[in-house]
Amino acid sequence: PSLEKEFLPMYFGWFLSKRSSEILRKAGQAFLDELGSLKAFKKESKYFPSVEDPKIKIDLTSYFVKRPPGVLHCTTKYTEFGKAAGAEEYAQQEAVKAAYGKGFTLSISALFITTKTVGARIELSEQQLLLWPGDADKILPTDNLPRGSRAHITLGCANGVEAVQTGLDLLEFVKLEKREASGELSASEKEENKQLLTETATDFNVSFGGNQLGRSACFLP
Ligand code: 2AM
Repeated sequence: PSLEKEFLPMYFGWFLSKRSSEILRKAGQAFLDELGSLKAFKKESKYFPSVEDPKIKIDLTSYFVKRPPGVLHCTTKYTEFGKAAGAEEYAQQEAVKAAYGKGFTLSISALFITTKTVGARIELSEQQLLLWPGDADKILPTDNLPRGSRAHITLGCANGVEAVQTGLDLLEFVKLEKREASGELSASEKEENKQLLTETATDFNVSFGGNQLGRSACFLP
């Protein structure tokens, strides 16, 4: 058994600067507040049970109770301290080693919610895709979605939901977009999806690394 295994982080990813992280949390907050007070969103209230009176406002902030501690991040590879499939191979790639500790600019293209998660969608550049694992963009083994489809930042999860769900929820949106592109969605389905995945365009400063080091140490369980 190689010693190296024990030194792999729980996951690799891009970590937002403290300032970027605060800005994105606020943007996420504003998105939930706005959506929760939209008339057109009221029909979804049964899916987001909350203590507040849904006739006034759906309280999405208290619905997504689990929020990531510390600075926000975009996971590239979940390595599970070296136990996950392909962990060593990922960590040993030249691109990964070269990018370690380096600064990047991540482009956020949308904010989305489902009954389980709220997150930010990320549009990866060609250079950033070099750090993206080949097996991440699937729910089912037969899925064939564009590389980087799953790239996201978890902003919150509903009670009892694990963060890994956010990426799977985003992949479901990408599947819906594919169906929309081939004309398979009704007008009302399209309208609903536009609310649940709202486009925005913002850039954030991040640095690439593993979660057990430096300022991201707070992610350790
Ligand atoms: P996230 O990337 O959707 O936020 C620690 O749990 C981090 O690793 C979280 O950020 C989490 O989800 C991510 N994570 C946990 N389990 C995972 C898995 N099986 N695959 C991919 N990412 C995972």
